[in-house]
Amino acid sequence: MKQQLEAILSNAKNELSQTQNARELDAVRVKYLGKKGELTAILKGMKNVAPEERPVIGQLVNDVRAELEKALEKQAEKLEQSALEEKLKSETLDVTMPSEEITLGHKHPLSIVLDEIKDIFIGLGFQVAEGPEVEYDHYNFEALNIPKDHPARDTQDTFYISDNVVLRTQTSPVQVRVMENQKPPIRIIAPGRVFRSDAVDATHSPLFHQIEGLVVDKNITMSDLKGILELFAKRLYGEDTVVRFRPHHFPFTEPSAEMDIQCYQCHGEGCRLCKGEGWIEILGCGMVHPKVLETCNIDPEVYSGYAFGIGLERTVMGRFKIDDIRLFYENDVRFLHQF
Ligand code: DAH
Repeated sequence: MKQQLEAILSNAKNELSQTQNARELDAVRVKYLGKKGELTAILKGMKNVAPEERPVIGQLVNDVRAELEKALEKQAEKLEQSALEEKLKSETLDVTMPSEEITLGHKHPLSIVLDEIKDIFIGLGFQVAEGPEVEYDHYNFEALNIPKDHPARDTQDTFYISDNVVLRTQTSPVQVRVMENQKPPIRIIAPGRVFRSDAVDATHSPLFHQIEGLVVDKNITMSDLKGILELFAKRLYGEDTVVRFRPHHFPFTEPSAEMDIQCYQCHGEGCRLCKGEGWIEILGCGMVHPKVLETCNIDPEVYSGYAFGIGLERTVMGRFKIDDIRLFYENDVRFLHQF
């Protein structure tokens, strides 16, 4: 009996040591200690043991049982430990590994320069105004002194939504909307999209951007206009920038002018960038036409004002030496990341 018990113990220990996981461990436990287990069977056979030997054998069975239980517990601990180690090993992070590069978005060159222009004018006391892109004919043309048969309409190839609704061809209608809603002093810029049905090529796009400017107050003169716009050009293109004003015509300003800056590439000599002119046109401007003020219920006898319109694409193309307007709208990151 004693030998039998010892054999059971050593077999059980042997089997235990080979278990790899909790399921196998449990199988060993059931095999020896379960209801139908080998050790249990021996206990059940005690009735056949001579009464005087029972205490000895009983003690022995209990010892074996205790030892087996201890061994089971130990093995369980060991398995748990190695499972944990396995898990840790598989989840190890090498914190010295280079991380994946995070690609950040990039500000569009049009936004870069627009933000600069806004900063310049905000610093000069201007506010930023907005108007709708789908606009009434009245605001886009009529109120700006461009009646139905005016030749200026032909130069602005207009997208018509209906007889009296257009996609705005310029940001100038925002002038009218502001003057209708706000009495002088007025000092605003109005950046935004404008639309003209131009064929697409290196310098034309049916969608582009302008920045309108408007100042109305008492005693505003042409020299206020010149002062502010020259200051603007120097801030944007550098302190040594030279500007000139050329007489021009716009229906909504009188007198009107265009402002050029001396070519920053050849300094007036004439080069490819300025097409041999030595000068680059950057904006249209003028004193707000009395008729426009009147339409907006501002008395031209009391108030005067100036206005200007800057083409954003052209300004950015000059600034960054970009020679094709289409690049702005393709959103090719290889292009965008250069600025
Ligand atoms: N709206 C004009 C255009 O699209 C640009 C312009 C010229 C705006 C003179 C003005 C201005 O405010 O005074 O060609």
